[in-house]
Amino acid sequence: MNTDMVSYYKERANEYEKIYARPERQHDLLLATQILQETFRDKKVLEIACGTGYWTKIISKTADSILATDINDAVISLAKLKEYFASKIKFQLVDIFNLPGTTKHESLFGGFIWSHIQLQGLTHFIDIINDSVQPGGAVVFMDNNFVEGSNLPMTDRDNFGNTYQTRQLENGMMYKVVKNFPTEDFIKQLLTGKAKNIEFIKLEYYWILKYKTIRNDSILKQP
Ligand SMILES: C[S@@+](CC[C@H](N)C(=O)[O-])C[C@H]1O[C@@H](n2cnc3c(N)ncnc32)[C@H](O)[C@@H]1O
Repeated sequence: MNTDMVSYYKERANEYEKIYARPERQHDLLLATQILQETFRDKKVLEIACGTGYWTKIISKTADSILATDINDAVISLAKLKEYFASKIKFQLVDIFNLPGTTKHESLFGGFIWSHIQLQGLTHFIDIINDSVQPGGAVVFMDNNFVEGSNLPMTDRDNFGNTYQTRQLENGMMYKVVKNFPTEDFIKQLLTGKAKNIEFIKLEYYWILKYKTIRNDSILKQP
């Protein structure tokens, strides 16, 4: 079965936002909207893995500017079709793992990407993220809680502990997609020495992680 997550989101681009129409999730989505709009008010935001721009649009109501990035041209093309609010929006094709680290952004948002990062790569992922943000800058991630009946069941687990879902697209293509559901304790442990002002907000269907970066000159020096 196809396990290429980038290809999966390319093929899913046109049906992606149906996930945000689930009736049971509307209350949480409203709360998340309020939290994100308040957090990014007047900020210059680097958005990683922006997808079709669902959260870009929401954040654009209060942010100063957003550089919305994704690895997939297919989703960026859809995001470009949206009408945004007040902030200045730019789009760019960017692989998170190739973020230059030379440009330090004021703040960063990543929606529903954390769960797709393999557990053995998470420390490196956080280091890359933190290296892209000014010391003291706000970093926010949002992702899914596992809720039986609302999320697809996990169909596999590998030796690292990564969990996988089997997903079928409307065109019939089948994918095995890594989807991890971290606990608050796990996340906080991972951020030890890498973040301050850590806040973990647990909604029913989603979690939101907010923290501020700290200066750490030793990051990204691993082989
Ligand atoms: C679950 S979607 C989230 C989209 C959007 N953030 C949202 O919440 O609606 C995951 C996104 O991550 C993107 N992605 C996957 N791997 C990536 C990488 N290495 N660098 C940048 N984007 C990536 C996919 O193309 C996809 O658009």
